[in-house]
Amino acid sequence: MRIMVTGGAGFIGSHIVEAYLAEGHEVCVLDNLATGRRANVHRDARLYEIDIHARETERLFEEFHPEVVNHHAAQASVKVSSGDPVHDLEVNGGGTARIAQLAARQGVRKVIYASSGGTVYGEPQSLPVTESHPIAPMSNYGLSKYTGELYLELTHRTAGLDYTTLRYGNAYGPRQDPHGEAGVVAIFTGLMLRGEQCTIDGDGEQKKDYLYVGDIARANVLALTAGSCEAYNVGTGEGTTVNTIFSTLNRATANAIEPRYGPPRPGDVRNFWLDSAKAGRELGWAPRVSFDEGITLTVAWFQANR
Ligand SMILES: NC(=O)c1ccc[n+]([C@@H]2O[C@H](COP(=O)([O-])OP(=O)(O)OC[C@H]3O[C@@H](n4cnc5c(N)ncnc54)[C@H](O)[C@@H]3O)[C@@H](O)[C@H]2O)c1
Repeated sequence: MRIMVTGGAGFIGSHIVEAYLAEGHEVCVLDNLATGRRANVHRDARLYEIDIHARETERLFEEFHPEVVNHHAAQASVKVSSGDPVHDLEVNGGGTARIAQLAARQGVRKVIYASSGGTVYGEPQSLPVTESHPIAPMSNYGLSKYTGELYLELTHRTAGLDYTTLRYGNAYGPRQDPHGEAGVVAIFTGLMLRGEQCTIDGDGEQKKDYLYVGDIARANVLALTAGSCEAYNVGTGEGTTVNTIFSTLNRATANAIEPRYGPPRPGDVRNFWLDSAKAGRELGWAPRVSFDEGITLTVAWFQANR
């Protein structure tokens, strides 16, 4: 298959590119390198350094003729979305509207879309969160990611475009940016490998669904041929506290660092974990990498790539 991966120079997108190449697909990457890195892109995938909103995006659709577009390009920071909701909406909502429109116009068979299980539902009314939970985002980012979902649904109704939406838990793993404000595993791993202290937001007992990036990549492989016009939670079904992440990383990096506790993050959802039974039934997906294994793989990568 010919597959265009938008955001393929980013953390999650780069793992999807590798998974697709490993399955024998032909892959190109569209990424403006806003947060992505050239070095993340596998040598067998051609990188086009283009902004989704640029005129060249349409030209790339015409020249590459993708059968599937995997759309991961986004403004992926909740904090940035709070400071600049218009930019966030332009990239996430407007960017997905553009991809949906071009895909329909250029005869793309399907769009696979990265949404956010941790933010579109808002404060969970019950746990684990299923896909039928009310959509009530508590951040501009959650709203803009959900807006992207709605554009794909609309383009299906009006132009017959097929899509699969994957709502991830909190991703972690190799190549996650340790300098951003998202991604507690990457931030703590980076600090601990330098022997530096980590600040835990609030009391550290907030529990979220942390998912190894390789499991996310596999869901994107399965979605190539299944999950027509549906949204799926992609998570472990379990919550892990920040205190547990801290102690697991302390062990994995052979440290005995004392945590420092800071103020809780404003607007943060305290507890969420996702029910991914629907992805199990319809995509044949279930997580394979345990939290301990994932942390071992992540620390090994950060050690080798310091
Ligand atoms: N990291 C998570 O835990 C998580 C959870 C749920 C959903 N997601 C979604 O998964 C996707 C990837 O997230 P990530 O964590 O790998 O973030 P990331 O920042 O590493 O990846 C995003 C990529 O999109 C590119 N990009 C941004 N704006 C662009 C534009 N206008 N044109 C072209 N490219 C652009 C960036 O350069 C980057 O390579 C995003 O859509 C994000 O919303 C991430």
